[in-house]
Amino acid sequence: MRTVDIIHKKRDGGQLSPEEIAFLVNGYTNGSIPDYQMSAWAMAVYFNGMTARETADLTLAMARSGDQADLSSIPGVKVDKHSTGGVGDTTTLILAPLVAAAGIPVAKMSGRGLGHTGGTIDKLEAIPGFRTERTKEQFLEQVRAIGLAVVGQSGNMTPADKKLYGLRDVTATVESVPLIASSIMSKKIASGADAIVLDVKTGRGAFMKSLEAAVELAEAMVAIGSEVGRETIAVITNMDEPLGPSIGNALEVLEAIETLRGSGPAELTELCLELAAHMVVLGGKAADVAEGKRQVKALLASGAALEKLRQMIAAQGGDAGVVDDTQRLPQARCRFAVQATAGGCVAGIDAESLGLTAMLLGAGRATKDDRIDLAVGLKLTKRVGDEVREGETIAELYMSGDDPDTVRHMTERAASAFTIRPEPVEKPKLVYAVVT
Ligand code: URA
Ligand code: CA
Repeated sequence: MRTVDIIHKKRDGGQLSPEEIAFLVNGYTNGSIPDYQMSAWAMAVYFNGMTARETADLTLAMARSGDQADLSSIPGVKVDKHSTGGVGDTTTLILAPLVAAAGIPVAKMSGRGLGHTGGTIDKLEAIPGFRTERTKEQFLEQVRAIGLAVVGQSGNMTPADKKLYGLRDVTATVESVPLIASSIMSKKIASGADAIVLDVKTGRGAFMKSLEAAVELAEAMVAIGSEVGRETIAVITNMDEPLGPSIGNALEVLEAIETLRGSGPAELTELCLELAAHMVVLGGKAADVAEGKRQVKALLASGAALEKLRQMIAAQGGDAGVVDDTQRLPQARCRFAVQATAGGCVAGIDAESLGLTAMLLGAGRATKDDRIDLAVGLKLTKRVGDEVREGETIAELYMSGDDPDTVRHMTERAASAFTIRPEPVEKPKLVYAVVT
């Protein structure tokens, strides 16, 4: 097989065989196919697309390009969840214990944050003592014992995707539905998911700005799931503002605990119940989404989901007392109010910009090796559709210091993420569609 013939075929709109796709992915992973040929192929895919079969073959080839988690020693259907938006997305901290409380084994590997996005592993490390590095055996043993573990990614998973994503980033080939869909799904499959629930974000803060584009991506991922025998459903949700009001590691743990207590923010609670209900259905514990939702609501109300979180924290060496006394989480030294620069109605809140502000405050990393401050971040006090008066508090910054220039710069930055209009603005819908 010659790489140039495969590129030629895709350039002319042909369909690649599973062998041709495996040849490309393996050759690119082991270095025998150079970046320039893979770039040419990615651009051909960008223009000509891929069939559902080709996309599934690409996904499987990337999933098999490195280590794959073997969860077969854990009984039951392992249902995983993925979100395409990463600012203030606290859902994993809530969904993992909630779904585990419903009797679905949760064996989750998560990542750290980079740039404007946060990572579940960093958030969990805000719990004093919590260990996210576990051996494979400790990880599996914990899931068998309590039905739940969330650990950091280890080993060499989906190296083909890492390399190809890096290449796409610098060759203007990121925005291709089959390439995005296979990239996301390959990681889920390599981490051992039998079934997958996707939260596909749409709106200004999202990868897919329009509803149509989000639905197209969701359909491509659901089709991959169907082709490779991993049942997949996608929920399309709004990202014209951050999901929950808190952005920052300890602040998001606090928000997750409050949500598991039943007193969390309305939108975050609603989305978690929706996603959890689908996970419970895919896990075979409920006949339909309505029944799944009744189940997970009851698990929140009874405290069973919060108890699961407590068990996981204890099993991973953390201070489970934070569940009852959230003052034991890292606390920021100072708080500053962000004020509305005009009166009117909040029309939009730029999640990416706020994610960057949180990073600049110290909650996130500009480069992979930066140290983060677990206590700092920000909390929104207004959402899209809320009325505000000029000078009213719209957000609060949690900072490690009170240097006046830094405070002024950061409050200005945060305020500029809000679009305020004179006319009334309707509250956006949270869930736009479910793709199955
Ligand atoms: N997220 C991914 O993991 N891969 C993509 O290609 C795009 C977004
Ligand atoms: Ca289907």
